Amino acid sequence: MTHSAKNTPRRSFIKSTVAAGAAASVPVVFPGRKTLAQETSSKNDRFSVGVIGAGGMANGNMRAAKDWIDIVAIADVDSKRAEKMNQDLSGGKASTHEDYRHVLERKDIDVIHVATPDHWHTKPLVEAMLAGKDIYCEKPLTLTIDEGKLIRRVQQQTGSIVQVGTQQRSTFHLFVKAMAMVADGRVGKIKQVSAAIGGAPSSPSIPVVDVPEHLNWDRWLGPAPKVDYRWMEAEKRGHTNCHYEFRWWYEYSGGKLTDWGAHHVDIATWALQLNGQTAGPLGISGESTHPVDFKDGVPVQGDRYNTATKFKFSVDFPGGTVMTIRNDTDNGVLIEGDQGRIFVNRGKLVGKPVDDLADNPLPEDAIQKVYKNLPMEGNERKAHWACFLNCVKSRQEPISDVHSHMKMLNTCHLAGIAARLDRSLKWDDDAEQIVGDDQANAMLAREYRAGYEIEGV
Ligand SMILES: NC(=O)c1ccc[n+]([C@@H]2O[C@H](COP(=O)([O-])OP(=O)(O)OC[C@H]3O[C@@H](n4cnc5c(N)ncnc54)[C@H](O)[C@@H]3O)[C@@H](O)[C@H]2O)c1
Repeated sequence: MTHSAKNTPRRSFIKSTVAAGAAASVPVVFPGRKTLAQETSSKNDRFSVGVIGAGGMANGNMRAAKDWIDIVAIADVDSKRAEKMNQDLSGGKASTHEDYRHVLERKDIDVIHVATPDHWHTKPLVEAMLAGKDIYCEKPLTLTIDEGKLIRRVQQQTGSIVQVGTQQRSTFHLFVKAMAMVADGRVGKIKQVSAAIGGAPSSPSIPVVDVPEHLNWDRWLGPAPKVDYRWMEAEKRGHTNCHYEFRWWYEYSGGKLTDWGAHHVDIATWALQLNGQTAGPLGISGESTHPVDFKDGVPVQGDRYNTATKFKFSVDFPGGTVMTIRNDTDNGVLIEGDQGRIFVNRGKLVGKPVDDLADNPLPEDAIQKVYKNLPMEGNERKAHWACFLNCVKSRQEPISDVHSHMKMLNTCHLAGIAARLDRSLKWDDDAEQIVGDDQANAMLAREYRAGYEIEGV
């Protein structure tokens, strides 16, 4: 990638950013700037990307960004998947690797895309930042609250540009417009906000089977505990503790509470912040149903999906504001203020304040203002990638930065801990600790399996 010839060289930028403290987060507008497509029309100006985790999401993301990037290296612990992405999206020209550290070693790669399962986000992300890369990392950024503290620290140290894959933040005509309405006072002071994220599946007992030849199961598990590989035929994708279905196992994910919580709790939290409610939660209570029994927060059965299938949690914020995280109403975010309410999901933005826009439109710069005056190109996933790549060039903080992401993901993780322990929790947001509950506090972190510790910290 040759952008460094035209822009601030990466290494000197890191030094000046660290020295200047928050300088990287000051937004800059580009009046009359060229679009990414215009800027990357020459082969030499395109971004050379290294992909870590070549599954469903990485393929979608790489297709969304294809106008501006070339995939030059692909790491996957499943060689079949790395090879398929190479053939489909890189004409067989990328190097393929089982161990992602070979991708991080390459000096010709500045941009990394991490799209591994959730238990494999923090380690490659932190190591990529320490290797001087900029990273688009899929949501939810972490499996635990303490991993978020580490990521934020390393991002501040290195000045790496990190965009989290919460592309709802780049959906201008729905979520961003809803946020602009909130910021412009169209619902008044928010009293209630509800994130409806749907329930999760259960499974029958899934048998242990031989690991496919093309999969390095030990490396897929990585920092997670060593267990057998499971798979059985099922209607859709098959039941397994591996590809895609990892979402339904607490060992690799937070279940729906973080899988979709990372999207809708993010929008709900963003709304509160734009409404001037910047303090974090005070505590959480509610109920959930799991497909297996738990002892001390740990599932007692290891042969089937174990994350919460149903749940309804109330999260208390200062001033009496309540956020609900639930599975039992239409997927979307309901924002209720003292002057009106709006509902937004991936298909619609509705409510009286939305109808009122016909007579009383938002100010011209309202959407750009909540989008931190960042360049806006395309829509949803493509726009989210454009935002990231533009920020790589300009060294601005992207719209889904690790700091705001972790602030809201703490709420999702708290819901997960409350679900697993089946009790209410109190939260000290300044100390980022659960109050008066040692067992719950022990779940802020997880032990990494020997041989898979994070390198360089
Ligand atoms: N932003 C969104 O809307 C959205 C949608 C779907 C998935 N996601 C996220 O994307 C991530 C991946 O989800 P998916 O559905 O693509 O899962 P997936 O199982 O299809 O893909 C993950 C890939 O990572 C590989 N992998 C595992 N460990 C690895 C390692 N150590 N090094 C290299 N590769 C490794 C797996 O073999 C697999 O090919 C998840 O974190 C998920 O939450 C985001």
